[in-house]
Parts: sequence; C-alpha cells; structure tokens
Amino acid sequence: MTLNKKIVLDSRPTGKVSPANFRFVEAPIPAPGPGEVLVRHHYLSLDPAMRGRLDDVKSYVKPQRLGAVMGAPTVGEVVASNHAGFKPGDRVVGMGGWQDYALSDGRDLRVVDAARIPLQAYLGPVGMPGVTAWYGLNKIIAPKAGETVVVSAATGAVGSVAGQLAKLAGAKTVGVAGGPDKCAYARSELGYDLCVDHKSPDFVAELKAALPDGVDGLFENVGGVPFATCVRRLNTFARIALCGLIASYEGAPTPLDNVGRLLITRSKIEGFIVSDHMPLWPQALGELASLVAAGRPKWRETIREGLESAPQALVDLLHGGNFGKMLVKLA
Ligand SMILES: NC(=O)c1ccc[n+]([C@@H]2O[C@H](COP(=O)([O-])OP(=O)(O)OC[C@H]3O[C@@H](n4cnc5c(N)ncnc54)[C@H](OP(=O)(O)O)[C@@H]3O)[C@@H](O)[C@H]2O)c1
Repeated sequence: MTLNKKIVLDSRPTGKVSPANFRFVEAPIPAPGPGEVLVRHHYLSLDPAMRGRLDDVKSYVKPQRLGAVMGAPTVGEVVASNHAGFKPGDRVVGMGGWQDYALSDGRDLRVVDAARIPLQAYLGPVGMPGVTAWYGLNKIIAPKAGETVVVSAATGAVGSVAGQLAKLAGAKTVGVAGGPDKCAYARSELGYDLCVDHKSPDFVAELKAALPDGVDGLFENVGGVPFATCVRRLNTFARIALCGLIASYEGAPTPLDNVGRLLITRSKIEGFIVSDHMPLWPQALGELASLVAAGRPKWRETIREGLESAPQALVDLLHGGNFGKMLVKLA
C-alpha cells in the first residue's frame, strides 16, 4: 500500500527552530468521504510567518498544534473527489500542509489554470506573496511617478513583486538584499534602479548614498538596521508598508530609535496582514495573473526536493538561504 508521508510539529523551539522540532510519520492514504476531495500535493510553500506559529503565543493566527501536520499552503492535483465542485485532474491551491496527500471539504481549495501559469506560481507571484506585495504597494505606499520606493528582502517572494509593481508605477526603486548575487539579480532581472547589499561592511553609508532624494515609500520586510536607516531618510508624507520583520523572528525585537522622524515628516506607517483583506484578493490575483502572463513580474524559486527537506528549508528561509520563493517539490 502507498503511504501518506507527513511531518508534524513535535516540540516548540526555544530560540531558533531546528529540524529536531519536527517528526516524520506515515499513515495510509485516506479515501474521501461524502463531499470530500483527495489532493496529491505537487509543491508546498515555506513562509516566514510559519516561524511565529511555532510559538504558543497570542497572535493574528492560532499557534500550530503539537502533534498535528505542519500547516502550509500547497498546490496539487485532485486525485479523487466526492465533491461536485472538483473533479480528478483539477489543479488546486489549498492549505494541505506538510504531507504528500490531504483530504479537504473543498472550502480551502481553489481550482487554478496551470496551462498559462506554472502551478507553483500560485504559491508565489499569483498567490499569497503576490497579493501581499500588491496590497502593501498599491493600498499603503501608492507611489507616484518619480518617487523613491525602498524594498527590503528585495529578491524574495514578496519583495520581488513589490519592487516590480513600484517600478511599473514609475517609481525609482532601491532594493536591499543579502549578497552580491542577489543584488545583481535585483538590478538586471527585477529592474531595481539600485540594490544595496546589507552584508556589506559599509552598508549604512551605501544605503544612504543610494537615497540622494530620500525615501517616499518603504516596503519593509526585514526590520533592523536597513529599516532604521530608511526611517532616517524619510521624506515629508512618506508611507511605510510594514509587511514583515524577519530579522527579529528568531532574535531580538526590532528597535525603532528615530520615531521623531515619523512625526517631523508626517509619515504614515501601517502594519498589515494580507489575510485581513480577502475581498481584495480576486482583484489582486486577477491583475497579477495578467501581469505574469505578460512577462512581468519576473520571479525565481529555490526548490528543495521531497517532504523530508521541509524542516531544513524553513530554517534556511529564515536566514536568507533562499533565492526567490522557497518551495518543496513533492511530485
Ligand atoms: N504582512 C503579511 O501579510 C505578510 C505576508 C507574507 C509575507 N510577509 C512578510 O514578508 C517578508 C518576506 O516574506 P517572503 O515570503 O517573501 O520571504 P522571502 O523574502 O522570500 O525570504 C526571506 C528573506 O528575508 C531575508 N532575511 C532573512 N533574515 C534576514 C536578516 N536577518 N536581515 C536581512 N534580511 C533577512 C533574506 O533575504 P536576503 O538574503 O536578501 O537578506 C531571505 O531570503 C517576511 O517578513 C514575511 O513575514 C508578510
């Protein structure tokens, strides 16, 4: 009998997450009951927010349950269905978690067109990360032509789309990324006007030099020194889309030592969670799908092979070991 391989959360991390916090289990592949769908996963998504769910703390989502399959967005193929809305062969995006197969009652599944756009892109530029970039850029920063927009984690799943949307809006775009390869890619492929390497010993001076006209829009994914440096360079009526603070997900909280600059410049800073804006998803996904089909935004992926690679992939994602969207390929 073919078994369903799964990974469950075995213990909560103290400090940094490690593969030892997870446990591998096997069980028979379930058969769909009335109204249910069985999906064979092709890819699962690794997302920085998963780190927050490993802690038993109050947040905008419930913590991951110990002993339960690790939750994650997935794409795959319907292999059996007792649900009128799905048939075998349908390609679907869902929340199937770290396992090869998942049962669903259909409420978390959406049929997608994998003929025009690669299936795994529904976990990236035409999925949650793309909508996150779309929301923060269009609804919070709303750049005008000629303004300067800074994007941190500039080549990542969210940042790569945010930077390209800002460029399409006519902004001057400045990326912040880790290492010369990521910075070269940010400029040559993603179209950033400039990209500054946060690993450079002269990072602060280089970022300041890249911002001669100050900062009108900041798409903040990281926190820490890049964030503080950009706050010091804010222009009057600047907008900050506070999307993520990945530098502090396993470390000390991000200090904000120049709050006065927000006041003096009358800047807006808005934290947002993309799942609060579900009514806007169809519009965002429609626009992103049209743009992707037309060749922009571009994106890249880091693909790890096999379910067993998921825990280490999560560890690596949290420390810059991905180049573009981090995925695990299951089939
Ligand atoms: N608000 C929302 O609804 C929402 C939704 C999705 C994602 N997010 C947030 O958006 C951010 C990006 O997520 P993503 O899925 O697109 O991940 P990603 O950017 O594809 O990958 C994470 C990247 O963060 C950078 N990074 C990690 N640690 C860092 C550190 N200490 N200093 C500087 N950079 C560091 C690394 O890029 P470099 O190597 O270039 O530094 C790494 O590749 C995260 O903060 C995430 O939590 C928020």
